[in-house]
Amino acid sequence: MLKRVKTLRFLRNEVVLITGGSSGIGKSLALEAARRGAIVVVTARNKEKLDQVAKQCLLLSGRPAFAYQMDATSPDQIDEVLTQIRHQVGAIDVLVNSAGLAEFAPAAEQSYKTMDQMTEVNLLALMYISRCVARQMMDQGYGAIINLGSACGKIPTPNSAAYSATKAGVIQFDNVLRMEVADYGVQVLTVNPGPVNTPFFDKADQDGSYRAHLPKWMFIEPDELARRIWNNVGYKTREINVPGYVAYFGWAYQVFPGLGDWAIKKFFDFQQNKKEL
Ligand SMILES: NC(=O)c1ccc[n+]([C@@H]2O[C@H](COP(=O)([O-])OP(=O)(O)OC[C@H]3O[C@@H](n4cnc5c(N)ncnc54)[C@H](OP(=O)(O)O)[C@@H]3O)[C@@H](O)[C@H]2O)c1
Repeated sequence: MLKRVKTLRFLRNEVVLITGGSSGIGKSLALEAARRGAIVVVTARNKEKLDQVAKQCLLLSGRPAFAYQMDATSPDQIDEVLTQIRHQVGAIDVLVNSAGLAEFAPAAEQSYKTMDQMTEVNLLALMYISRCVARQMMDQGYGAIINLGSACGKIPTPNSAAYSATKAGVIQFDNVLRMEVADYGVQVLTVNPGPVNTPFFDKADQDGSYRAHLPKWMFIEPDELARRIWNNVGYKTREINVPGYVAYFGWAYQVFPGLGDWAIKKFFDFQQNKKEL
């Protein structure tokens, strides 16, 4: 059983399902998996973008690649698409839940609709898809589930309360799921990146004010993150916290939360003043 999970390290001929595969981290993960010889299946709402990614995957891997339109806010569509994948592609060896969105705004100003949308896509859909695919992986006796959390789930930053709550939920969901599926040879890997250079911020931070608080060195490139993720599949890795400061500050915040609040607020105020000068 454990031996089988180790073969996922190579990804060759493994079926890899990636939600949010039309853009950003999901797209980089799809292309890197294809480079390593995987049979890639991408889902999202934008079929045109998905078809382009699938075509690129096919060229990179020389193996079939598939695109399915799926709105993560619809459990019926999730059920339907998972059934289609099962019949048309086969059993899933690796699942990546990368579909997600944010809107950065003070909690007191955020609408119910936005909070609902973030919770549905970032947390509810991720839990439901993980649960459906975990059952199949437990039956087959191996697999890997990779869920996109965020540094925000560990380190609070101003204007991200609802988004951070969904990501803290992902981290804790994975902590429990990991224990439940470990004996079945299924790896659960939670990925908590700091800011990544993707179209994510075009929606999350439309006036650029959140990004303006963050120095460039804090950002990671999605291709680099994708390589890091695939290099950890098939191992006992529980979490990826990148860049390094995420792991360090995440730990420090748990131990000294009051000091953490003070330091984070000072940092954001300092960045804001720098921007205004
Ligand atoms: N970028 C960052 O700084 C960062 C940092 C930490 C964590 N993350 C997390 O990483 C994940 C990927 O983010 P990203 O940076 O790659 O963002 P992105 O480039 O905006 O991609 C988001 C993906 O989610 C899909 N999506 C959004 N709403 C959906 C819905 N209702 N149904 C199905 N798919 C939906 C989008 O496709 P369609 O629009 O076509 O549906 C797209 O493929 C997210 O969970 C995000 O929270 C990002």
